[in-house]
Amino acid sequence: QKQGVLKNKHVVISAGGTIEPIDPVRYISNRSSGKMGYALAKAAAEQGAQVTLVSASTTLPDPIGIKTIHIQSAQDLSKQMIATLPTADVIIMAAAVSDYRVGEPAVNKLKKQASGELTLTLVENPDILAQLGAMKKEQYLVGFAAETQNLLAYAQTKLVKKNADMLIANDVSKHQVGFGYDTNQVTILTKDQEPEVLPLQDKLSIARKIMQKISEVIN
Ligand code: C5P
Repeated sequence: QKQGVLKNKHVVISAGGTIEPIDPVRYISNRSSGKMGYALAKAAAEQGAQVTLVSASTTLPDPIGIKTIHIQSAQDLSKQMIATLPTADVIIMAAAVSDYRVGEPAVNKLKKQASGELTLTLVENPDILAQLGAMKKEQYLVGFAAETQNLLAYAQTKLVKKNADMLIANDVSKHQVGFGYDTNQVTILTKDQEPEVLPLQDKLSIARKIMQKISEVIN
């Protein structure tokens, strides 16, 4: 029997960057490394939680002892997160989800165009955090907000608009913070507490603080 403050809790975490196909060999993605989401999965497991990691693109190995489901596109991630919602106690959307996808990916590899230009039509992806926010019952829902300006104001707006319970805001314009780095500097926003500014530190330490804070409010 596992011990820890998240014992008997099912924590579902999305991580990495989604992949949106253009044709069978090409895709649109982003610079997410998956490090923050994987660190959260590890921290939750350390605290005794049953963890499901839903992983989009990353080069990280599957964490030992953690159920890891691999998906690629935002639409697949949406289906997977909605499927796990009923059994989840905590859901953390740490994945970098592409806001748009290619409307109709080509069935065959695209050839060079005689005209010298190629137009891709992008259509909007579902906002998964907002979908989960609209569907959730007792689940505690956590999102991330990476901003380059007006960090706290934008993050606060997202918290309310997407009906999340906690939002982790990070200023990605700062050095050594966020995408790809091992360190991060975040501010934790919740519905009913003052924002908590955490100092720059490695992602696993941040993940442990976040899981600690979540356990305090859900227990
Ligand atoms: O609106 P923005 O992309 O900044 O919101 C970030 C948060 O929303 C993250 O938690 C991210 O995982 C989630 N998100 C989502 N679906 C999208 C875009 C973002 O779930 N299409």
